Amino acid sequence: MSRKYFIAGNWKMNKTPEEGKKLASEIASVVSKDAAVDVVVCPSFIALDRVSQAIEGSAVKLGAQNFYPKTNGAYTGESSPEMLREVFAKYVILGHSERREYFGESDSFVNEKVRFSLENLLNPILCIGETLEEREANETLEVVKRQLLGGLEGVDTDGLSNVVVAYEPVWAIGTGKTATPEMAQEVHGSIRSLLTEKYGEAAAEKVRILYGGSMKPSNAPELLAQTDIDGGLIGGASLDSKSFCELIDAARTAS
Ligand code: PGA
Repeated sequence: MSRKYFIAGNWKMNKTPEEGKKLASEIASVVSKDAAVDVVVCPSFIALDRVSQAIEGSAVKLGAQNFYPKTNGAYTGESSPEMLREVFAKYVILGHSERREYFGESDSFVNEKVRFSLENLLNPILCIGETLEEREANETLEVVKRQLLGGLEGVDTDGLSNVVVAYEPVWAIGTGKTATPEMAQEVHGSIRSLLTEKYGEAAAEKVRILYGGSMKPSNAPELLAQTDIDGGLIGGASLDSKSFCELIDAARTAS
């Protein structure tokens, strides 16, 4: 089964709209119409519109980092899927460990968002991953299972076809520590097995499972060579066009 590689930049709370426009234009000029790899950039809300204009006409797609699962209303500080769609966002990162940790997002709230994103034509990038304590306590697979199946509750096979999963061990995010390719593959393989049990092999084989956590040009080739690693969700190394484009290249080479 050949899945198209998927490289997404999670800019987190970095880049002003002007800086974002510059970075996005640099990426767009390199990616142009290249369809070999799916490339997505996820700027902050305030930069979405400017970045959207910068990538117009290129193959780079836009993602948001969050939304609130309501159509509209009195939710101070939040943005709706409709607002994101109007600036041509196609993806949204959900369940990121930083949102789970700093904003108290639970599996059931993440699940509500996953379902709402699918109903509202945004493709969720569902993030799951264990903390260092959980890994050391041998709970990795249990945590990943709970977050994966919790996040996908009520999502049918049709819905699944629009979901991208990102395995991000929390201890590897922004720390410079990467899971070894073997460690990552073990978890990615388990994620695929869980998807197979729930949705059947044909549907599970189509799902892109990204690795996230200090992925950079030097470690990407080995990670991307693993059977069940279909791309990356990249934080730090996505903030510089050179390293991000090298990651896109690594995915192209692995294809
Ligand atoms: P990192 O972040 O690449 O800086 O580790 C990844 C992420 O949090 O999505």
